[in-house]
Amino acid sequence: MGATTVQWQAEAIWEAVSPSLPAFSVEILPEIDSTNTELMRRARAGQLEPVLLVAERQSAGRGRLGRSWASGGDVGAQTGGALPSLTFSLGLPLAPVDWSGLSLAVGLSVVERLHPDLKLKWPNDVWLQDRKLAGILIETASVGELRYAVIGVGINILPRDGQGLSTVPAALSELLPGTDAPAALARVAAPLVLAVRQFETQGFAPLRTAFHARDLLYGREVVCSDGVGGMARGVDAAGALLLHTQDGLKKITSAEVSVRPVPHPPANQP
Ligand code: BTN
Repeated sequence: MGATTVQWQAEAIWEAVSPSLPAFSVEILPEIDSTNTELMRRARAGQLEPVLLVAERQSAGRGRLGRSWASGGDVGAQTGGALPSLTFSLGLPLAPVDWSGLSLAVGLSVVERLHPDLKLKWPNDVWLQDRKLAGILIETASVGELRYAVIGVGINILPRDGQGLSTVPAALSELLPGTDAPAALARVAAPLVLAVRQFETQGFAPLRTAFHARDLLYGREVVCSDGVGGMARGVDAAGALLLHTQDGLKKITSAEVSVRPVPHPPANQP
């Protein structure tokens, strides 16, 4: 692993967070398999301090539902030396009364810090119009009485090819020309820690209205991976997706269900 040459604002993030979270640290690695995997390994080995772990490159990035998460290629002449994506995980002990809605709270904090045009696709994707821009993977490790949460975030910074994907991913640089991974991290990191700690004490309910303002699916026909389809009607106070189906209103809670919007028919079709 070589030393990092990217200019991260690690100290500013640490200074913003540590007064309210004294054991907090920020760690930047040039390369690792996956920041989520690493923090889960550390938690299982008893390392439970709050940490923001950033990797400039992941060799085995993971997504939801056992998928992999590709970081969009290597740094090189093609990217002008810039990182194509921002990949990091926030790890901290967490004890909310109810865990439901955490991924929505995380997504909301991220989009609110990045751009007004970004939407959230339940349960935890960030989309720009009809293309995915960022993903969130939340895992927990139980260690004795404690539960350690690992909140992984991957944000496409530069455009990338969509080989093997159903849609070409969106990139933050489309909305914020000239932005880079350190600038995106500087925007989202400290507010995310605050948002997660607020979620711990207040839960998802106070965020419901703000979520609806960013809800990509609201009023759209959607299909769940288990075949249930209907009109998305926002979320309830616990963050469950509300679907108007043929059999009435259904609450979708399972993180194992993936939801996709039914595309609008082209305008000239009957
Ligand atoms: C998804 O959309 O399926 C979730 C993607 C989450 C990717 C991030 S990148 C940082 C962290 N480390 C990982 O291996 N995954 C998450």
